[in-house]
Amino acid sequence: MPNASSLLTAVRARGRRAAGRLVHRGWTWVQGVGAVSNQSPGPYRFRELGDGTKLAFPLGTVFNEQWITIGPFSIIGERVTISAGFVPGLDLGDEPIVRIGGGCVIGRGSHLVGHQSITLGDDVWTGPFVYITDTAHSYHDTELPIGKQWPRNEPVEIGSGSWIGTGAVILPGAKLGRNVVVAANSVVRGEVPDFAVVAGAPAKVVRSWSEAEGWQPPFRHEPPTALPGDLTADQLRELIGWDLRLPGEEA
Ligand SMILES: CC(C)(COP(=O)(O)OP(=O)(O)OC[C@H]1O[C@@H](n2cnc3c(N)ncnc32)[C@H](O)[C@@H]1OP(=O)(O)O)[C@@H](O)C(=O)NCCC(=O)NCCS
Repeated sequence: MPNASSLLTAVRARGRRAAGRLVHRGWTWVQGVGAVSNQSPGPYRFRELGDGTKLAFPLGTVFNEQWITIGPFSIIGERVTISAGFVPGLDLGDEPIVRIGGGCVIGRGSHLVGHQSITLGDDVWTGPFVYITDTAHSYHDTELPIGKQWPRNEPVEIGSGSWIGTGAVILPGAKLGRNVVVAANSVVRGEVPDFAVVAGAPAKVVRSWSEAEGWQPPFRHEPPTALPGDLTADQLRELIGWDLRLPGEEA
């Protein structure tokens, strides 16, 4: 016969399990309804939010979104900050400040902090916790705290098809070409040509491609086989629901 105290412990444990299920179900529901899209924009008024694009809930800091455009079928992870201008409520002129193309994936916790111009092409994918900014504090004046000095801005461009590894920082003035790979934790400034891999802080080109020589230095590994078993490209596309182009396929 269980005594009162063990009965109470069992009831408490059951209650906790039920509460746990409830919290997780509730949170999944909140994440679903809190996600931002052009069909369900919540309080946000983006200049452009393409069809099929979603910003996961909870969002990071998002302000002056009238100067932010995001193309179609992009995924913005949880707690991604996308800001235009210094502070909310400014009139930033005619042109958008932050432009994110179509088919982009921005990893959770990343920051796009734009004061002048940040442009991501199409299909730019970032890992989590990437920081992209076109602005920096200036520190010329030795009389003033650095935080109170006027910032210095330089536009940032990231070419279509690029992949930015986790923890990377893209500094003001950076201009990355097409299909650039930025290795994890790199700090990137200046120009990076198309089809290059950059790594380190400051980031340097560690591998690049040219028509004449292909990839140099040569890869350490073979490219993956495109499809497992006898799965066809069309079956794979159907399975994942994307118009995925496989290596060697024509556009
Ligand atoms: C860059 C990366 C993709 C590897 O690419 P790869 O073509 O296989 O490159 P290799 O491993 O041949 O490395 C090339 C050179 O870059 C260096 N390198 C690679 N990654 C580096 C990094 N994060 N920081 C510093 N150097 C790095 C290698 O040491 C090597 O230098 P070495 O020839 O002097 O030894 C991988 O290292 C990386 O950073 N991936 C990102 C992972 C990530 O953030 N995922 C998030 C999910 S989206």
